[in-house]
Amino acid sequence: MSKTHTEKNPSKRADGEYVTLIDHSSDKQYNLSVLHGTEGPKVIDIQSLYKDTGFFTYDPGYTSTGSCDSTITFIDGEKGILRHRGYSIENLAEHSDYMEVCYLLLYGELPNAEQKSDFVHEITYHTMVHEQLLGFYRGFRRDAHPMAIMAGVVGALSAFYHENTDINDPEQRRMATHQLIAKMPTIAAMAYKYSLGQPFVYPRNDLDYAENFLHMAFSVPCEDYQVNPVLGRAMDRIFILHADHEQNASTSTVRIAGSSGANPFACIAAGIASLWGPAHGGANEAVLNMLGEIGSKDRIPEFINRAKDKNDPFRLMGFGHRVYKNYDPRAAVLRESSHQVLSELGIKDEPLLDIAIELEKIALEDDYFVERKLFPNVDFYSGITLRAMGFPTSMYTALFALARTAGWIAQWKEMIKEPHQKIGRPRQLYLGSQERPYVLLNKRG
Ligand code: SDX
Repeated sequence: MSKTHTEKNPSKRADGEYVTLIDHSSDKQYNLSVLHGTEGPKVIDIQSLYKDTGFFTYDPGYTSTGSCDSTITFIDGEKGILRHRGYSIENLAEHSDYMEVCYLLLYGELPNAEQKSDFVHEITYHTMVHEQLLGFYRGFRRDAHPMAIMAGVVGALSAFYHENTDINDPEQRRMATHQLIAKMPTIAAMAYKYSLGQPFVYPRNDLDYAENFLHMAFSVPCEDYQVNPVLGRAMDRIFILHADHEQNASTSTVRIAGSSGANPFACIAAGIASLWGPAHGGANEAVLNMLGEIGSKDRIPEFINRAKDKNDPFRLMGFGHRVYKNYDPRAAVLRESSHQVLSELGIKDEPLLDIAIELEKIALEDDYFVERKLFPNVDFYSGITLRAMGFPTSMYTALFALARTAGWIAQWKEMIKEPHQKIGRPRQLYLGSQERPYVLLNKRG
């Protein structure tokens, strides 16, 4: 049986390769092992640093810290490379579909025809949510942000599917992962319908994953609704492009929540909360709001100058990335997809797309952005496609969360199966008060 791609290549602890740490205050020297991955930067193994040296490391924002090892996703930020289990995102976006990518992320291999059919059937037949859950929505205001609803409803799933919350039971883990992937489109579509005051639309087992979601979001009981296959393919591609992305903020949130033994439903709810931030998944909504605020091409220089002004908190949303110092490969695919969707819908004149294209052109010629290697990221073009498809900006991050659930749950599954899995518990550099005597209330100034 050939090694599957969920098994880790042994971290090539190049025997004898190490770095030496010298503590000049004591002239002590410490040798720290160097580990090689399959690809990417080497790492310095500091797991016993504190025990051996009494030192912590210090890395706010984890700009130089590897939190785990993984076989799921590889990113080369300098070259703009993104691969899932060795397959490039460009190939997956062109040739695969989201169900296949979910299987690949979860099980390490592209499924054969029988495996794919079984997996799609299992997901399809878990797309309905517990009928009691519908009442949960009615506790929200109609104008509640869909991400507030998603975080609340997904967190509550463990109350409805309590039978699949024992993380030590492989079958319960399998069921919970499949239930989460299956039910996220239903939950997201229900959040959208609730905001419109329209009735919830039940999933249909005769539609594929992306088409089913579009049907639940846009159909009404009064008339038949045929999903445009071009839009269905575009939706599926958007899901693929957002499926996983190594140890980003929300994935790290899911991993650290799971490291305490929390159930997978609660961990995914934590990931949704983290993704909501405008520096992360909330950027796709912020990009459309920014393009609307810019309003016309002649105002672009004003906003470019604001983005460069250190005294102005404004940042160019959809630009820059912690890892990519090149064009985000997902942005390139999404830019192409936005043109296809606009053309299919006969939208000749989309001013926001025109502004986005001009903004990108100007920014990529500006020294400030060039020097800092700030390129468009996944969020820059996704919103334009989603807007053309009929979604309000408030739904964009909910769609990101829907798609990212596959990656979050695959990373959670990998973490839970770690033979030496530990609770994540970082330390700190303490800069507060040293010990001081308590002062009684009547003695305080
Ligand atoms: C996602 O991690 C992931 O993989 C995330 C993600 C995924 O799939 O999970 O890819 C999804 O979150 C994409 C990113 C979406 N966010 C945005 O588009 C928001 C705008 N971008 C920035 O907030 C910023 O670029 C971040 C948060 C994405 C990255 O910030 P970093 O890595 O902490 O970089 P930094 O803040 O240290 O910036 C470096 C320099 C600074 O200038 P100097 O202090 O060197 O003078 O670049 C500047 C920053 O001020 N800068 C920007 C900028 N982004 C960085 N200046 C203007 N506009 C921007 N967008």
